[in-house]
Amino acid sequence: MSIPNTTSDLLAALRPSSAALPESRIVTVFNHGRNKPGLIPLWAGEGDLPTPAFIAEAASRALLGGDTFYTYQRGIPELREAIAAYHTRHYGRPFSAENFFVTGGGMQAIQLAFQMTVGAGDEVLVPTPAWPNFRGAAEIQGARITSVPMQLEPTGWRLDLDQLFAAAGPRTRAIVINSPANPSGWTASQGDLAAILAFARQRGLWIIADEIYHRFHFAGGLAPSLQHLIEPEDRVLFAETFSKNWAMTGWRIGWLQAPVALGQVIENLTQYNTSGVAPFMQRGAIAALDEGDAFIDGQVARARQGLEIVTKALAPLNSVRYVAPAGAFYAFFGLDGVTDSLAAALRIVDEAGVGLAPGVAFGDGADPYFRVCFLRSPEQLSEAMQRLSRWISRRAS
Ligand SMILES: Cc1ncc(COP(=O)(O)O)c(C=O)c1O
Repeated sequence: MSIPNTTSDLLAALRPSSAALPESRIVTVFNHGRNKPGLIPLWAGEGDLPTPAFIAEAASRALLGGDTFYTYQRGIPELREAIAAYHTRHYGRPFSAENFFVTGGGMQAIQLAFQMTVGAGDEVLVPTPAWPNFRGAAEIQGARITSVPMQLEPTGWRLDLDQLFAAAGPRTRAIVINSPANPSGWTASQGDLAAILAFARQRGLWIIADEIYHRFHFAGGLAPSLQHLIEPEDRVLFAETFSKNWAMTGWRIGWLQAPVALGQVIENLTQYNTSGVAPFMQRGAIAALDEGDAFIDGQVARARQGLEIVTKALAPLNSVRYVAPAGAFYAFFGLDGVTDSLAAALRIVDEAGVGLAPGVAFGDGADPYFRVCFLRSPEQLSEAMQRLSRWISRRAS
């Protein structure tokens, strides 16, 4: 007798934690609006500039030059050195190449971090609203997320540290700290980070630190960082990426920063996950780190301009709850009366010609909210915000 194979049989035969993963609600809106003529897409977490030529040319030269063979699992030594030099330059303390591991984007760094630290039945604390991929990556491992809701106050989003610490239970293994945060722009103070690190040390917890938006800090300079606080043996894993600073989202390249003692484990995990990142892309990444600071300054200036445009448009609207973010490049605003942000985002696509990410994608309590990515040309962004303001005003009248 053969085993039946209908669609539901096939799905039922999968590992439950993979089969149960939800579709990203951002993708639901994207799929709905993808081919709509004239739509201005502000739903994705990326700017509108292509990768600068000096980076693309370095990768192209390596590709044409035959840099096409299997390579180091940890990343080519020159790139690991360049990452360490970048950190030393920006954080003003010495970093060693031995702490850095090249990955397939920040996303794979997060995956590796969870693969190393959590398994079935373990819990991970995540302040919400949060980028949904933390949940997805933890759940693939069979772990559970414990959400710690942040509050929107007149000064911005606030994480109550007592509430965070109280949420840690006997099965808690890790805390995700994404600062500056996607989607809220919440940015931890140096004091908050010190308290979180002290708590993690005391309880033997891992911190999965996602500071990928550290350059996008609107008070000026780099955002406060755990990089200033950690000791070599701290249980802190940083996910990092080339995607945002250097406009390289489509490349899928980033890095994981971890204690040196984990090097062989990370090498093994890389071997069995992806077997490493294309070496010619790594050559492009070296150019990004070594020559890209001026480009990043331009990106940050563009984000500042975008922030101003979005804030000017949202601030006068009575039905909107919004405080300008301290960092990252998203405006996360609530709309009074909305109970289903996915349905509303689909309507905004159809009726206003603007693509937003629905709040429901970002976890518990975020349903009346929408995320706007403002790392875009001022002209397009102004047009999008005019359309959106008109839609919101019409809805209220
Ligand atoms: C908070 C956060 N972390 C990590 C990433 C991962 O970026 P990538 O996988 O493109 O490197 C993103 C992308 O949107 C993000 O918003």
